[in-house]
Amino acid sequence: MAFTYHPPTRKECKVCERIIDKHEKPLVTTMDGRASNADNFPIHNWYNFVLGYSPRFPDYIMEREKVTTNSVVADPFMGSGTTNICAKSRGVESLGLDANDFFHFAAETKLNWSIDIQSAKSVAAAILKQYETALKKYNWPAVDQKNQLSLIAGKGADYQEAAVKLRPSALPERYISDAPLVRLMLLKKIIKSFHYPNESIKRLFVMAFTTITLPASNVYYGPGFGVRKPKLDVDVYKLFKAKLKRMIDDLSVQSSGKVEVDSKTYLGDARLMSECFGTDTVDLMITSPPYPGDHEYTKHSKIELICMDFATDIQEFRVIKKRMLRGSTTNIYKEDHDGDLVRDMQSIRAVTDEIDRRLKEDNATSGFEKLYTKLVWEYFGGMYRVFQEAKKSLKPGGKFVLLVSDSHAFKMVHIETAEILAEVAVKAGLVKPHIELWQHKASTSHKYNLFEEVLTVEKPRA
Ligand SMILES: C[S@@+](CC[C@H](N)C(=O)[O-])C[C@H]1O[C@@H](n2cnc3c(N)ncnc32)[C@H](O)[C@@H]1O
Repeated sequence: MAFTYHPPTRKECKVCERIIDKHEKPLVTTMDGRASNADNFPIHNWYNFVLGYSPRFPDYIMEREKVTTNSVVADPFMGSGTTNICAKSRGVESLGLDANDFFHFAAETKLNWSIDIQSAKSVAAAILKQYETALKKYNWPAVDQKNQLSLIAGKGADYQEAAVKLRPSALPERYISDAPLVRLMLLKKIIKSFHYPNESIKRLFVMAFTTITLPASNVYYGPGFGVRKPKLDVDVYKLFKAKLKRMIDDLSVQSSGKVEVDSKTYLGDARLMSECFGTDTVDLMITSPPYPGDHEYTKHSKIELICMDFATDIQEFRVIKKRMLRGSTTNIYKEDHDGDLVRDMQSIRAVTDEIDRRLKEDNATSGFEKLYTKLVWEYFGGMYRVFQEAKKSLKPGGKFVLLVSDSHAFKMVHIETAEILAEVAVKAGLVKPHIELWQHKASTSHKYNLFEEVLTVEKPRA
């Protein structure tokens, strides 16, 4: 069944009423810290994860913590690398980790600025030429906006027939219409078979292709996954050319005069981060982990994962989902038992008891609803392991800074994420928990703004 975003019902929330005056004022004015803000930043804009944060957040924290070029910064839930790019821009070494193959690829590509710009420009010209020739050969001309229908029905432009052959099996028809799909797949073939001067340049083109698949599709990601009215056709050539130009322009500016610093990225599970980051290596961790908001993070990269073959069937999606922290009812498994690690915590029990009570009151018995309380336990249990691992990887006195939101995703029960995570972190051996308000976040579900809060904890010095 197609996934649609259903915010909880518009109920009053006693916790919101109680905590409405909890903070004096936010660290940034409302909305400036949103992920979409990243569109205006060089390199960041190559792929801007809708559930990510604005570069303003890691920049603010690095300033505050007086990070120097001798520091090592890490992000165990790096998404497409916002923290790491901010660190690199300051000449600061960084480490990053994500469970999703596409995000890992995107972050790694965005962090390689040692690219021969002239070679990249020559490859761009050659690929665009090949693509133009191929489009002409198949008689799939560039889109004429006024005449889309006649083009599709026109001579030789039998997109439907071609789409049957070219459509990836995991990609439903309504996600990308036939004509744009055919245009995309033709370009993909050229990109995959081109002889590149080196691997870094190849990655740049794979990145440019992968990141235009979403705008060429009928899908949107924010705030939840959804499908729009189908676009009959899309000028994929134009999208790709513009994307390449922006990427190459950004690289020309970004790489000039900068000292190269190490930015290592890993594909893996933050619950095992010390296997990647090592022990006593990191001065400052800055991240936004998943929060218990019932977001399933592979959904927000589904088009990219499928179109560039990062995940081509349910099995491959499951491998990614199992690496991830449990944050959604579509990502929870019988064998999960991280929840046992925090079973003694009263603050979590209060949340799950209230969810249970409301489920009974509403006679709610659907399969997903039955998983709500297990999910909350698994989420905080998983984060307990993350804190234990962070304690290993941080240097003594090193700080772990997390941006999280409260949630109302399960029967409208208010989950004070930062407050509970602070307790979980202390249980895992971190100290000095401190919570501030980053910004107000407009709620899709009720009249109250939600808090987006910054939790800071430290590894003890001795
Ligand atoms: C809120 S996003 C972080 C976005 C990032 N701050 C940015 O601006 O792009 C959370 C990320 O955590 C990743 N993730 C979820 N569970 C994970 C796990 N167990 N280990 C590593 N990454 C995980 C998701 O794939 C997602 O990219």
